[in-house]
Amino acid sequence: MIITAKARLAGVMGWPIGHSRSPRLHNYWLQHFGIDGAYVPLAVAPEDFETVLRALPRMGFAGTNVTVPHKEAAMAAVDVLHPLAKRIGAVNTIVTLPDGRLEGRNTDGFGFLENLRQAGTVWRPASGPAVVLGAGGAARAVCVALQDAGCPEIRLTNRSRARAETLAAELGGGVTVVDWDRRADALDGAALLVNTTSLGMSGQPPLEIDLSALPGSALVNDIVYVPLETDLLARARARGNPVVDGLGMLLHQARPGFEAWFGVLPEVTPEVRDFVLETVSG
Ligand code: ATR
Repeated sequence: MIITAKARLAGVMGWPIGHSRSPRLHNYWLQHFGIDGAYVPLAVAPEDFETVLRALPRMGFAGTNVTVPHKEAAMAAVDVLHPLAKRIGAVNTIVTLPDGRLEGRNTDGFGFLENLRQAGTVWRPASGPAVVLGAGGAARAVCVALQDAGCPEIRLTNRSRARAETLAAELGGGVTVVDWDRRADALDGAALLVNTTSLGMSGQPPLEIDLSALPGSALVNDIVYVPLETDLLARARARGNPVVDGLGMLLHQARPGFEAWFGVLPEVTPEVRDFVLETVSG
């Protein structure tokens, strides 16, 4: 596809940005649909974030993704904040509205749920209690998505208990905080286990958790996708649990932004997954 002077533009702002897979993903879809558009990496230092963001609509950008370390700053910088982004406490997708104002959205929770949905298992959000490991930005998106989808109980456990308690208080009812040392006990009767910590990622410490109390039917999902099959997923699979890897969340969270900027809601196909996977090592 040749980019013309009428091309629609979007990108991803981060610092650093060299490891982002989003340009590869969005440009795959642009080519797939034959859309005259481009999606570019934007390396933006924190002190320049607001200036660059404000310049984007003036340069004709339909919007942008926002990644580390700008996700919280983006909340304060946009003109309109989508209620879901406000609840999650971070913005990952910015859309230029017809009047030029910037709207901040968060699609991470959507990506999380769509990834599990596409896996085609019998698990549903209402199936039973969910155990969430971690209380960082990813955990916030996961918990809000689970709550909105009707999950009856979230058991939240984090190394720093205070952080889990803050998140639980913000989420309101249906969330119990479990001590990190008791995380294995929280698995009793759970329908879903999600790791949102960085443990198990290549270069990070391993995730140590005894799975013996986890029902055999429980779905296990790791947000870590380098390596694609983490030790957690391998151990869960070995004892017969259904498992879903974390790459799909990255792919699915990109879909609503692509639709807003380029007018088509793309699918996550095996082909696009393989195409992005070519750059995922570990
Ligand atoms: P993200 O936005 O990707 O969720 P984050 O906000 O840095 O990233 O959160 C990382 C998560 O991994 C946190 O839950 C963190 O626990 P703390 O809140 O106690 O820091 C967790 N984590 C990172 N390293 C850990 C370790 N060695 N042991 C246990 N938890 C760890």
